[in-house]
Amino acid sequence: MTNILCIGAGFVGGPTMAVIAKHCPEHCVVVVDINAEKIAAWQSDQLPIYEPGLKEIVLGVRGKNLFFSTEVDRHITEADIIFVSVNTPTKTFGQGAGRAADLQYWEKTARQIVENSTSPKIVVEKSTLPVRTAEAMERILNSNEKGLFFDVVSNPEFLAEGTAVDDMRNPDRVLIGGRQTPSGQKAMQAIVDIFAHWVECERIITTNLWSSELSKLAANAFLAQRVSSINAIANLCEKTGADVTEVAHAIGADSRVGSRFLRASVGFGGSCFKKDILNLVYLCEFYGLYEVAEYWEQVVKMNEYQQASFVSKMVTAMFNTVASKRIAVFGTAFKAHTSDTRESPALAVCRELLDEHAQVVLTDPYALESARADLGAVADQVTFEPDPYAAAQGAHAIALATEWPQFAELDYAAIYETMVHPAFIFDGRNILDHKALHAIGFNVYAIGKPPLTHFENPLPAA
Ligand code: NAD
Ligand code: UGA
Repeated sequence: MTNILCIGAGFVGGPTMAVIAKHCPEHCVVVVDINAEKIAAWQSDQLPIYEPGLKEIVLGVRGKNLFFSTEVDRHITEADIIFVSVNTPTKTFGQGAGRAADLQYWEKTARQIVENSTSPKIVVEKSTLPVRTAEAMERILNSNEKGLFFDVVSNPEFLAEGTAVDDMRNPDRVLIGGRQTPSGQKAMQAIVDIFAHWVECERIITTNLWSSELSKLAANAFLAQRVSSINAIANLCEKTGADVTEVAHAIGADSRVGSRFLRASVGFGGSCFKKDILNLVYLCEFYGLYEVAEYWEQVVKMNEYQQASFVSKMVTAMFNTVASKRIAVFGTAFKAHTSDTRESPALAVCRELLDEHAQVVLTDPYALESARADLGAVADQVTFEPDPYAAAQGAHAIALATEWPQFAELDYAAIYETMVHPAFIFDGRNILDHKALHAIGFNVYAIGKPPLTHFENPLPAA
């Protein structure tokens, strides 16, 4: 039996360890966190995050070979392998503020591991980190006076929220990076052996440490770049009469491009794309690669433009003012099937609408509580309404910001009757039946498509 510990019981630590525990019944898996409330939730029936399929897996292994605890020090002492999955947000202070990764939680963990260890261990970087962080980690860990040696392995996580369980159980690849020394190779093999319980060996990629660390940042940058690229084209579609769905289909049919991740939208959100690209930008600048930095920064700038221009299109279409108008924002999660609202475009839209003095009503099936928390000081100016029908009642417009499938199945004819007319709908995810909505009476504005309105001379969408 191997004692596996994960430090950090968040969106990554919880689901990844639950899947490891399920597939490796002979190992004991413990997940620790300094946040006692979160640990209590992991121990209860109300898990701290919503992920399809997660509860079933947790309930199947919890108390058998999966445990949640706040006793960080004790479990460090007992562990053979420690995955570190703490948060690595963008730094908000000092050197590199607004770009570099804030590694304070990460470094604290490293020091805590040294203090509480009485035996050598494998320490696994699960968090997303700047390339060459493992070097700093090794220095902190191996400068101990106990004569203990720690191997550092990089095993970045590629799961996406909303599909975390499926992504873990059936990953495109698992990436494991380590030192090319005998000890480093042995440590890497120990991590390979865990995943080999359920992942075919062809999908387990082993590399050197730096390739593994950099591949994680690069993968997120490439994915976000696709969204910004199709959103850039969507803007041109709106000016020219082309339809972005048709264009995306035509582009994606080329097998060199591929069809996935070409959904034009109100912008990408989530806790990682922006922070990881800014981290990449900072690293490029650090190494004097200013043109490379500028290239990647444009992906984030395009995303900010996309979110802001969604609201300016709304204002223009609604006779150049939304002041005092009730606007129902459908969806607060940064994508469907998650309760996470970190960096959600819905909240960016909400803030911009508040700046325009609109009366904003937010509705979401799972993410209203986290929206309230993430909105902070402006939460008091917003109404939170779990029922989309009630949210739309008396509204001048609906702004759909999250692609929850249930939003496509609502009775829009009934909704239309309860709204102020002329009624507007802005589909920031292109999931609604625009022709049907137009036939009901709505003035319909989608992303990258010609508007469908009932005005003889519709105001331009932008
Ligand atoms: P999170 O904020 O949900 O969870 C991190 C947890 O670490 C928190 O609960 C926090 O209390 C805990 N923590 C911080 N310091 C600690 C300490 N010293 N001891 C014990 N616990 C501590 O973050 P997350 O979304 O799980 O992301 C974790 C890392 O994984 C980040 O680097 C992120 O970039 C990366 N990542 C995230 C995702 C995702 O979908 N969210 C996917 C892939 C990679
Ligand atoms: C992303 C990556 O997909 C994961 O591989 C990675 O592990 C993770 O970041 C991370 O490092 O945190 P996630 O942010 O959970 O996962 O979700 P995505 O499915 O990538 O969506 C990100 C954002 O892009 C969402 O707001 C989504 O709505 C938006 N998006 C995605 C689009 O607007 N269009 C698309 O075609 C795809």
